[in-house]
Amino acid sequence: MVTRKSRREIEQMRRAGRIVAEVLALVEGELKPGVTTGYLDRLAEQHIREAGAIPSFKGYLGGGRYGKGPAAYPGSLCVSIDDEVVHGIPAERPVREGQIVGIDAGAAVGGWHGDAARTFVVGTVAPAVEDLVAATRLALMAGIAAAVPGNHIGDIGAAIEDIAVAHGYGIVRPFTGHGIGTQMHEAPNVPNYRTGSRGLRLEPGICLAIEPMFTLGGHEVQVMPDHWTVVTVDGSLAAHFEHTIAVTENGPEILTTV
Ligand code: MF3
Ligand code: CO
Repeated sequence: MVTRKSRREIEQMRRAGRIVAEVLALVEGELKPGVTTGYLDRLAEQHIREAGAIPSFKGYLGGGRYGKGPAAYPGSLCVSIDDEVVHGIPAERPVREGQIVGIDAGAAVGGWHGDAARTFVVGTVAPAVEDLVAATRLALMAGIAAAVPGNHIGDIGAAIEDIAVAHGYGIVRPFTGHGIGTQMHEAPNVPNYRTGSRGLRLEPGICLAIEPMFTLGGHEVQVMPDHWTVVTVDGSLAAHFEHTIAVTENGPEILTTV
């Protein structure tokens, strides 16, 4: 079921979104060669909890459920390096010069979630890799710009797909953006490509996490035996950017910002 959020509820989501944006800025500042992804995760969790929020990812089983056990997500961040697309699990693994590192963070305040991600470059990378990261960021902004009342979910995917096609990048298909609110993952799905149907008509109060994932190679991905880490099948590098936004009568509002 797709729910429309009130102005009050959107402002509550903005509180969660601000904490998520702070986490991404904090991690960006610490992201240097030698730092471990587990350290970044501990910093993130500390910031989220000190801000009075709850990490949305910790203990997540998928499908809106939380619990314990081997399939429960163990971190507060997802840290996805190079050919890892999304959902990389933080570990005692140092980041290295020349890598691209996707950081995804989620937090809930008073039961309302924010979810955002960015891909960072560590040191210097090839121009083609810089271009991948820049185009994925641009695709997120193009997708957000399409999130206006009267447009449809399909217009977001079309705007994102056009940028990938212009660059010849692969678009990851099994993972999509999503509705967000009192659950991290709500209806509707927000594909990063054309599906052949226009999808839901956008109205004020609809809140979405828009999250393009592009690769320098093919679109095929697989999930690692750790249950979570999504990698490209061909080993090509992947970039991911995400914001939580609200559709309003004045256009899209980004909630995951400071
Ligand atoms: N932000 C991601 C998403 O929207 C990560 C959630 S998966 C989790 O799908 F397990 F880490 F929570
Ligand atoms: Co998301």
